[in-house]
Amino acid sequence: MNATSSPANPPENPIGVFDSGVGGLSVLREIRRELPGEDLLYVADSGHAPYGDKSSDMIETRSIAIVEFLLSRHAKAIVVACNTATGAAVEALRARFPVPIIAMEPAVKPAAASTKSGVIGVLATSGTLSSSNFAKLHERFGAEVDILVQACPGLVEQVEAGDLSGDKTRALIEKYLVPLLAQQADTLVLGCTHYPFLAPLIQEIAGPAVAIIDPAAAIARELRRRLASANLLSAGSRAGTERFWTSAAPDKAQPVIAQLWKEDIELLSLPNSD
Ligand code: DGL
Repeated sequence: MNATSSPANPPENPIGVFDSGVGGLSVLREIRRELPGEDLLYVADSGHAPYGDKSSDMIETRSIAIVEFLLSRHAKAIVVACNTATGAAVEALRARFPVPIIAMEPAVKPAAASTKSGVIGVLATSGTLSSSNFAKLHERFGAEVDILVQACPGLVEQVEAGDLSGDKTRALIEKYLVPLLAQQADTLVLGCTHYPFLAPLIQEIAGPAVAIIDPAAAIARELRRRLASANLLSAGSRAGTERFWTSAAPDKAQPVIAQLWKEDIELLSLPNSD
């Protein structure tokens, strides 16, 4: 396999995208917008979600198995649509697989550039906040602005259950935002790909003066750049397709994926997903 276009990795091949569960759909929708002609493969590792409180070793093992599956389905590039998997596994994935691998990073840089109060809040899983990638980001921008971090246990589970606005979801968000708002955070970074589905509720609770930053559109643009520089952009003129797999029971996970993707999709069982 080759990192650039080749007979073994032609531009017509699909792009593989994965997350611990349904959160990466917030990235997939931006990829679909940016690259309407590309075929997309999506794996929701919902049988092992949340990743946020799992060991790095476990997340790395799952990430490698999922990327192997996506490559067996001829993925020409991989998007790690999960901040937690990026923190735990991206180096191992890049060392192992010679295809372009695009990964998430909490959008601290744009938040630091746009805050007026000089205080930003980062909402993410504890796994992301304790990763060495995040420590580097903190070191780089922490001298310019105050970076408040907030782990949000429970929110991933609410999104996995399709509960985007119920009482329990609202109570969790209120609990997590209160300390950030009390310390004058005027910009909130969504450092977990599940959270953009909660953005309307987060905005309502935080109020209109608070900016919310989701890096998904920037990741989709980065994917386009990486594909273009490797001559891997599909030249086809038809609309791209999407295929979905889950490591949870498909009949349980299907309604939530259909709700978040806003289409009645077919969901397949991920092989060997224990
Ligand atoms: N969407 C994952 C992320 O971006 C959620 C992690 C989890 O499963 O806890 O971090």
